[in-house]
Amino acid sequence: MVNIQSFFKQIILFLCLVFSGCDYQENSSQEKITIGFSQGIWNHPFRTLMNETIQAEASIHDNVSLISKISDADENEQIRHIQTFIDQGVDAIIISAVNDIALIDVISKAKSKNIPIILLDRKISSNDYTTYIGADNIQIGRTAANRIISSGKKELNVIQFYVGDDASPSVERRLGFKQIIDEHPNVKLVAEFEYWDLKGFSEYLKNNAEETIHYAFAFNDFIAYQAWQIAREIGREDEIKFIGVDGLNTPDGGIDLVKQKILDASILYPTGGNEAITTALDIIKNKQVNKYIPLETTVIDLSNAEIMENQFSKISNQQKVIENQAKAIKKQISRFESQQNLLITSGVLSFLLLLLLGYSLYSFFVIRRTNRVLALNNKRITTQRNQLKKNEIIIRENNETKFIFFTGLSHEFKTPLTLIISSIETLVEQNSSLTKKWINELELIFNNSNRLLRLINQLLDFRKIEDRKFYLKASKTNLNHFSKSIINDFKREARKKNIQFNFVTNNEELEVFLDRNLMDKVYFNLLSNAFKFTPNNGSIKVEIKDSEESNHVLIEFYDDGIGIPEKELGQLFKPFFKGTNNRKKSSGIGLFLTKQFVELHKGNITVESNKGTKFSVHLYKGNSHLDEDEIIYQPDDLKSNTLNFDLEEIIYEEVIEDTSQSSNPEKYSVLIIEDNIDLMSFLSLKLSNEYNVYTSNGVDVIQEVFELIPDFIICDVNLPEKSGFDICTILKNDIKTSHIPIILLTALGDNESYKKGMQSGADLYLKKPFSYSILSQSIKSLLYNREKLRYYFTNNIYRIEHKNSLENIDENFIIQLNQIIRENFENSSFTVEQLAKQLHISRVQLYRKVKAVLGMNVSDYINNFKLENAKAQLENTKMTVSQIAYANGFSSPNYFSTTFKNKFGTSPGAYRKNKS
Ligand code: FRU
Repeated sequence: MVNIQSFFKQIILFLCLVFSGCDYQENSSQEKITIGFSQGIWNHPFRTLMNETIQAEASIHDNVSLISKISDADENEQIRHIQTFIDQGVDAIIISAVNDIALIDVISKAKSKNIPIILLDRKISSNDYTTYIGADNIQIGRTAANRIISSGKKELNVIQFYVGDDASPSVERRLGFKQIIDEHPNVKLVAEFEYWDLKGFSEYLKNNAEETIHYAFAFNDFIAYQAWQIAREIGREDEIKFIGVDGLNTPDGGIDLVKQKILDASILYPTGGNEAITTALDIIKNKQVNKYIPLETTVIDLSNAEIMENQFSKISNQQKVIENQAKAIKKQISRFESQQNLLITSGVLSFLLLLLLGYSLYSFFVIRRTNRVLALNNKRITTQRNQLKKNEIIIRENNETKFIFFTGLSHEFKTPLTLIISSIETLVEQNSSLTKKWINELELIFNNSNRLLRLINQLLDFRKIEDRKFYLKASKTNLNHFSKSIINDFKREARKKNIQFNFVTNNEELEVFLDRNLMDKVYFNLLSNAFKFTPNNGSIKVEIKDSEESNHVLIEFYDDGIGIPEKELGQLFKPFFKGTNNRKKSSGIGLFLTKQFVELHKGNITVESNKGTKFSVHLYKGNSHLDEDEIIYQPDDLKSNTLNFDLEEIIYEEVIEDTSQSSNPEKYSVLIIEDNIDLMSFLSLKLSNEYNVYTSNGVDVIQEVFELIPDFIICDVNLPEKSGFDICTILKNDIKTSHIPIILLTALGDNESYKKGMQSGADLYLKKPFSYSILSQSIKSLLYNREKLRYYFTNNIYRIEHKNSLENIDENFIIQLNQIIRENFENSSFTVEQLAKQLHISRVQLYRKVKAVLGMNVSDYINNFKLENAKAQLENTKMTVSQIAYANGFSSPNYFSTTFKNKFGTSPGAYRKNKS
């Protein structure tokens, strides 16, 4: 797909380039040319004709754009016009100058910018122009003079009219005229007048009436006509033959005046408009052009005036035809261009259409192929889905069967449990001769049977909720009495854990509609949770908050336990959820059921947890929120799950006392780390027969062990502060406690947990429920093994050498101990304190450690060590007895001999003799 798209893009780009390239080439051959034309004088038919011919010529070149600027014989204005052309950067400038001096500077500027200058009709006094186009004005003067001379008259009087020295045609015509006149002495130039001095001419005629004037040569036809008019005023017009210049084919133009016989002749002076444009184009195209381009002149007199007129009219008509044709061609070209554009556009579009067609075809095939694959996949998915559906049905059926089985089984559990509980009730209530110990055991059975019963009930409730089989049976209930009855059941637990447990209400009379059975479960769940997570000496509070104006009542359950991580609060009421900081045994359905039961009452439950936890239950007052069939008027009585074990507290305290105070130095000591008070008191009771029992709930237990150094430890895994695994790892890695056998008790039966237990260094990992006799036997064999190890250590004092093995921390301890003692053999003042310091433990810890690992007190051990060394020296060296005595740090040889004899039953000297 991507490739096709990029190919498509490239084609469009290519087309654009091709077409824009053509356009560019066409443009370059038809490059636009801008020509500026500065006309110096405006009010003369000759000038008008010049302008028209320039215009006409330019119009037939469709790439030429002509900008004409005409000044009113004002040289400054003309300079400004030319400057503008220079600024615009025109390709060439045609100038018909006002006078020959004023334009010198501006023309040299144009030259410096490489703009060609074409002078027309009038010259300037500078060489900076490119070419000059015009008739030869000297020749015109000469032609006029020759015509006069050729009249054949012997004596001729001639008059001349000129326009001034600043116009080159005038200067040159005058010059040429004079040149010829001067050559003929019979021709006399009797007077010369400037154009504006026609009055002078009139005067002259009047004043020289006798003098015959044969000819008058005027600078142009216009002046000649004016002179004729003056002569006519005086009545001498027939006497003088007037010759003019220009020969324009206009009314009162040269040709017309000749035809009217006003003028004898007019010398044709072409405007050069056409030539100016063609020359400009040649220059722009870099063609070689002469500095002077002469224009042909001819004499127009009566003999050819008619012909000339016809010729000019024809030319002028043709000119117009050409112009019209040029216009038509331009129109055609623009139509052609738009058609060409249309063609290109339609070409591009057709090409694109073709491409699109191709692409569509391609897409069609791709889609068809993809569709086929999709159809196949669809078929496969449908088959899989059907299979999944079948599997799902099978799984659901299996699940359902399992559920039915477990529900049935749970129901089966209920009967024997209820029987156990009622038997205990009968036993306790009716048998007053029971000993404290028995009552305590019975209480354990009673409490745990109840617990089991509750768990089974929860399981069944969960199933019922899932099947939507719970129907509310709410009855009017005094909330205060109801709450108190449940709270009472927890008071004993509170006393055991020394938890401050309070109940507060601001309305003792408040009655609400409750399904007592369900609400009992709500209370029970929330309170057992609070007790589960509140440490000893903590506090729990239940508070009923009622306000008259509110339509609901609030029941709050606070505890200052471990709390719930904030991000887990949202999931707390979901089934099977267990908080990450919850190390306790939890099914994860208690809070789920709680919420369901509250919601069955149309109430709601919320939780906040910061330091400790607060559950808030909102219940509606009155019964308008309940359906008729959810209300009952004769409620069941709630059955209390507590039994009055009168002696319970005394027994519990006695156990604690028994175990902590009556320690017997002959007995081994055990520390039980367990936060379940029932299990702890059970174990304490049982073990106190044989051992000195110490207990801990797991808080600050490490320090306790360091101080106590018990002979063995029984430790639960799920503890509030540190897990049993962590405690075991710490103790087993500390030299002070590494030797203590540890038994881990846990409900976690999976392999992973077993592995974890072993990795933590535990000596035994017992899974709950465990048999007491197995525990008891396990303790015994652990202690026996410890004894065996101790025996080995004591009898191999010197054989335990440093093997660079750190595997056994106790062995390493002995190696370190021996090394320090050995280093201080000779030092008779070496003390146990110094030894402890070097081992980085306290003196008491050293005593306990040595006693535990080696079965003797540390000073005896040091002594034994020295004596054993001395014995070896007696056997293997030639040192004297006294040398050996000092070498082993005995203060005197005598003292050495006495101690040696005490230990080995023979004096050092006798021993050596015997051996040798
Ligand atoms: C018009 C005109 C013509 C003459 C030419 C000379 O202004 O005087 O009659 O031939 O200019 O520049």
